[in-house]
Amino acid sequence: MSDATGWPAGRRITIRDLQAATDRGERWAMLTSYDTLTAGIFEQAGIRALLVGDTSAEMVLGYPDTLPVTMDELIPMVRAVVRGTRTALIVADLPFGSYQAGPGPALANAVRHLKEGGAQAVKLEGGRRVLPQVETLAGAGIPVMGHLGLTPQSVNVLGGLRRVQGRGDAGDELLADALALERAGAFAVVLESVPADLGQRVSKALRIPAVGIGAGPDCDAQILVWPDMAGLTAGRLPRFVQRYADTRDGLLDAARRYAADVAAGRYPDRAHSYA
Ligand code: KIV
Repeated sequence: MSDATGWPAGRRITIRDLQAATDRGERWAMLTSYDTLTAGIFEQAGIRALLVGDTSAEMVLGYPDTLPVTMDELIPMVRAVVRGTRTALIVADLPFGSYQAGPGPALANAVRHLKEGGAQAVKLEGGRRVLPQVETLAGAGIPVMGHLGLTPQSVNVLGGLRRVQGRGDAGDELLADALALERAGAFAVVLESVPADLGQRVSKALRIPAVGIGAGPDCDAQILVWPDMAGLTAGRLPRFVQRYADTRDGLLDAARRYAADVAAGRYPDRAHSYA
């Protein structure tokens, strides 16, 4: 059963629903989420799919980049996000080292995300070099999201998190990767930090949704890392990030006022004490 908006009512969104929205020309939004509370809030806000991304390495666990996070660290976050939602599609990231060795490890770890975590789909980075993995997962009935452009798990080869040049060969290569992922059975492809005209070119060429993050306005869907979107992260952010709230300042102010009230004996007062 669908509601007036065309999205299903009272059940989890599937990859078919995402494809249907893209087919009817509707733009939809994704966010990352790593915990129950934010997952429920984002679902209530109309975010159709949530990614338990390996950015949790930096955003939750304090690692310097995404490389150290493991399946064992990600799975409890996937469970928490699943428990906090009823309708959003939950995509779980396959972390660095969990799929690069080939289709066997990729399948074993993707199965863990579905069986132990309760996710409905997985994401991995790379183009033609990971096609055997994508084919194996799709063949086993596991929806796979690709990830092209800036692929943070390759930070040591890229020499930093630079945006991708889209002109000439680089753009053609990325388009060929995207088409190959679609043919191999991917249900969507994330495009990270690529020029807007390349984002448009890839989105037009693909039948499946292209999910942009710094890939311009013409992608079928968009994703942001939630602490960036909500202004919780400090410091300089990539040009493509729009901060929709000042969560960091709000939280800082709340914690400061709480500490000051405790120090001054203003909290707890009678109204916040049991008689
Ligand atoms: O792990 C993550 O959060 C991601 C997004 C940047 C798309 O891969």
